[in-house]
Amino acid sequence: MSSSATTRIVGAPVPRKEGADKLRGCARYVDDIAPEGAWHGLTVRSAIPRGIIRSIAFDPAIDWSQFAVVTAADIPGQNCIQLIVADQPCLAAGRVNHCEEAILLLAHPDKHKLREAAAGVRIDYDPLPPVFTIEESERQETIVWGEDNLLKSFLLEKGDVDSVWERAAHIVTGEYRTGAQEHLYIENQGMAAEYGAEGSVKVWGSMQCPYYVVRSLCRVFGLPEDKVRVIQTETGGAFGGKEDYPSVVGCHAALLAMKSGHPVKLIYDRMEDLASTTKRHPSRVRHRTALDRDGKLLAMEIDLATDGGAYSTLSSTVLSRATLHAPGPYLCPNVRVRARSWATNNVPYGAFRGFGAPQVIFAMERHMDEIAAALGFDPVELRRRNFLHHGDANATGQLMREPMILDQLLDRALKESGYYAKRTRFARENATSPIKRGMGMAAYYHGSGFTGSGEVYLNSLAGVDVTPNGKVRVLASNTEFGQGTNTILTQIAAEALGIGYEDVLMAAPDTGIVPNSGPTVASRTSMVVGRLIERASAGLVRLLREHAGLGERYTSAEFFLACERCRAVLGQVKSLCRYEPPPGISWDDETYHGAAYPAYAWAIQVAQVAVDTVTCSAEVEEFWAVQEVGRVIHPVLAAGQIEGGIAQGIGYALYEKVILENGRMANSQMTNYIMPTAEDVPPIHVYFEEIPYRYGGFGAKGLGELPHDGPAPAILNAIRDAAGVAINAIPLLPEELFAELVAHMPAGEPAAL
Ligand code: MOS
Repeated sequence: MSSSATTRIVGAPVPRKEGADKLRGCARYVDDIAPEGAWHGLTVRSAIPRGIIRSIAFDPAIDWSQFAVVTAADIPGQNCIQLIVADQPCLAAGRVNHCEEAILLLAHPDKHKLREAAAGVRIDYDPLPPVFTIEESERQETIVWGEDNLLKSFLLEKGDVDSVWERAAHIVTGEYRTGAQEHLYIENQGMAAEYGAEGSVKVWGSMQCPYYVVRSLCRVFGLPEDKVRVIQTETGGAFGGKEDYPSVVGCHAALLAMKSGHPVKLIYDRMEDLASTTKRHPSRVRHRTALDRDGKLLAMEIDLATDGGAYSTLSSTVLSRATLHAPGPYLCPNVRVRARSWATNNVPYGAFRGFGAPQVIFAMERHMDEIAAALGFDPVELRRRNFLHHGDANATGQLMREPMILDQLLDRALKESGYYAKRTRFARENATSPIKRGMGMAAYYHGSGFTGSGEVYLNSLAGVDVTPNGKVRVLASNTEFGQGTNTILTQIAAEALGIGYEDVLMAAPDTGIVPNSGPTVASRTSMVVGRLIERASAGLVRLLREHAGLGERYTSAEFFLACERCRAVLGQVKSLCRYEPPPGISWDDETYHGAAYPAYAWAIQVAQVAVDTVTCSAEVEEFWAVQEVGRVIHPVLAAGQIEGGIAQGIGYALYEKVILENGRMANSQMTNYIMPTAEDVPPIHVYFEEIPYRYGGFGAKGLGELPHDGPAPAILNAIRDAAGVAINAIPLLPEELFAELVAHMPAGEPAAL
């Protein structure tokens, strides 16, 4: 059902707000901006994974007076990157906990002099024993963080799991693993900074969350918020990778600006970006599942572990989302999820599109296919039999109160993909062909917005005002980084005000101008911030009516703006709105019980995969994605988000492997860290079933992260269907597929291998 007939701009494929500037090449990214007299910065990093810094010496052949040199001793405030736990230093002081950890910063007017100078900094260490895997960390023989290496743990319990095993008709167990993944935004991390003589800091650059950077700068410089200003410049992709890390780059650039007395630009190159910034958390998920004779779930016991890396960064919130998504979109009376994030001496892992959900949905959805195989069930029917429905309680006891159409999404996906007919045809063709084809699916939900009480704590403020020349301006700290924030917030304001799309502007994402409407993360912008803009716009209409004294004669903002008498108040009216939780939502952080998210987006994805048993490559030939994300604000951008997420999910499943040697990324180049290109992305069919959500901006729920959750399990399930090999770890590169195919080849079969 679509209500686009009742709106003019919401639901229409308007040109993207900053699209023309990007197309013409006049959008300005941080490295395009050259402030007068700017110096360039460089970071000197740890060569070892763990140890004590014994000494730092400077090569006497270099004239160091020409350089600004910053160490931890120069930090005016606290040596700490402010995220959730205060464990990560801004610059290493006395010890290092991972390779590439920042120890020292250099700046010079000539960026070509910096590499040589960095090579002239000699750092001596007393190495300490490092820990690199979840298994080593959980053995707790070497403690590398806190008392016990445990960054965070959660326990989610529903019913009584232990009472079920004895009476279960079937018990199926499995272990699933996922690797790290790099964001590969096109524009690398980069920030520029200016330090005012009177003790103020201004930072601009590539980021998702300007107010997060403000918070870190305040702490590192010991400054109040009003002395710190952060501006987002045009940002070339982020995917979560610019949620936490820009706080590091921003503080470093600002320290160099302070020390040098010049504006400083600190721009990473690709190798530095790949080697030293956050990635998706690797995971290990163990499932033990009890079912009755009819294939109904009786109990799910899930043990989840992630590698958090050397510092906490966002590991606790990523683990929280993983915990909540681990049991999937299924009704099960007894559930236990034990989740732990372990410290290692790898580079800290952080936020990445999906935020813990892709890891656990890979495990749950692969496991569903293994259950189906063990019980002799059709994998589609097994899922359908266990789907959550309206009125059911999920694993946290949240009653599903919104309309739910997972069955309808499934029917559509089966029909559009020709699922059953294809499976039958492939089974016949596979018998005689070295190319084996198969179909696989994934069913899941993704919670929209911050988890639990998160949105209440954020307390977001956003709004609209009117400029002196009669344009409406959206005031929000939410940023555009390719995903469409500018466009959809503009559409929402224009729609609510009854004015043209061109008559609405976006205020610069500058903390000196816009209020804190929260970070641009967690698939929250359309739903949460969109709703604030919608409400604030309605408030603006009321204000305009009052100011003009038109009463009910006011018909639209357009009329108002044309009215001579009313033009007197232009530039003076502003309407701001603060977040209010939807009614009837409660969440208990202690027991992990209640409404973890106000709303969920739902998806069924289907992959058609061909496995070449000669080359051992798996190729996704076609992909179908059917989803319910509430109201679709912009059909082209929404479909683009789905397609991009699926492309990234294909990379996660089949191509992208972070190879760590001694805790350092050994393949930190785009020539050996392989991401899918246009060649590797198959035809993707995207379908939306729209059910407007009444507490989201014009009915929107979250959309950005959803598409990344499903491709990996759908693809590996298709490989199982095609070639009969049950593979439970990603990424699955040809060498691993080769090993699996050889191991599963019937004895004596002269296969093409
Ligand atoms: Mo996102 S991974 O919530 O920036």
